Amino acid sequence: MWEPLSASLRARYPSLAGRHVVISGGASGIGAALAMAFAAQQARVTVLDIDDSAASALGERLPDLRYRHCDLTDIDSLRAALRALEREAPIDVLISNAADDRRQAFFEIEPADWDRSQAINLRAHFFAAQAAAHGMRERGRGTIINLGSVAWMRGNPAMSGYTTAKAGIHGLTRTLARELGPHGIRVNSLVPGAVVTDKQQRLWRTPEQDAEFLALQALGFRLLPDDIAAMAMFLAADDSRGCTAQAFVVDAGLTVH
Ligand SMILES: NC(=O)c1ccc[n+]([C@@H]2O[C@H](COP(=O)([O-])OP(=O)(O)OC[C@H]3O[C@@H](n4cnc5c(N)ncnc54)[C@H](O)[C@@H]3O)[C@@H](O)[C@H]2O)c1
Repeated sequence: MWEPLSASLRARYPSLAGRHVVISGGASGIGAALAMAFAAQQARVTVLDIDDSAASALGERLPDLRYRHCDLTDIDSLRAALRALEREAPIDVLISNAADDRRQAFFEIEPADWDRSQAINLRAHFFAAQAAAHGMRERGRGTIINLGSVAWMRGNPAMSGYTTAKAGIHGLTRTLARELGPHGIRVNSLVPGAVVTDKQQRLWRTPEQDAEFLALQALGFRLLPDDIAAMAMFLAADDSRGCTAQAFVVDAGLTVH
């Protein structure tokens, strides 16, 4: 029952075929799983990231992947990148997935640390949506997905900037949904729980923490990036045409306690 869904059993979304899907932070972790999942739906996938070596490793698995180096905290570069991508092929789906969840003790956080965290974890989402929405508005359709986190719901310590920004994602999503809905653009947040990625395992997920998460979840299995990708595909596809302004939590029941 806890086995990951095999590729042959995954849903197909014909409406995603040929769509241009732009994924920020798509070179590694959940973002790379998103890139693989959308490519499997025959979408045109472009990844924005700063990790060139991770992007090149992903490119070996996905020969059709388009990659653009872009530091999302630099709004001029972000705008220029999205303008250039829009010229190459109209952007149908924007997934703001990049984040920085570094830990820092409460008393050590300086204004520059706070600003850095907001710049990547919240400000980039607003300006990416604004840049992508120009073309979407002209065409009268588009989908924006902002990655949130359950970390703020749980009040996770030592990451105040991150949790504050992730709480802000919910407010941002609801406002953008109202602003852009009349133009046929849907905006939702996708809110992961504790997902096992290479980075999580390398940096934070000790065997003790792993056991702790499993005990806290209603479902007793480790969430994988593919579990997040499954929801992202549904939210990007026309099947979810009635869904906007919502936060879709995929956390195996971590927050029910
Ligand atoms: N992994 C989890 O358990 C978990 C839990 C809750 C929420 N999330 C959210 O899901 C999303 C993906 O999580 P993840 O664990 O794969 O993240 P990650 O930290 O492993 O990967 C983030 C990606 O963003 C890129 N990135 C970072 N700073 C950037 C910048 N300035 N410009 C461009 N790219 C930049 C990184 O190079 C990386 O490829 C994030 O929004 C995260 O907050 C993850």
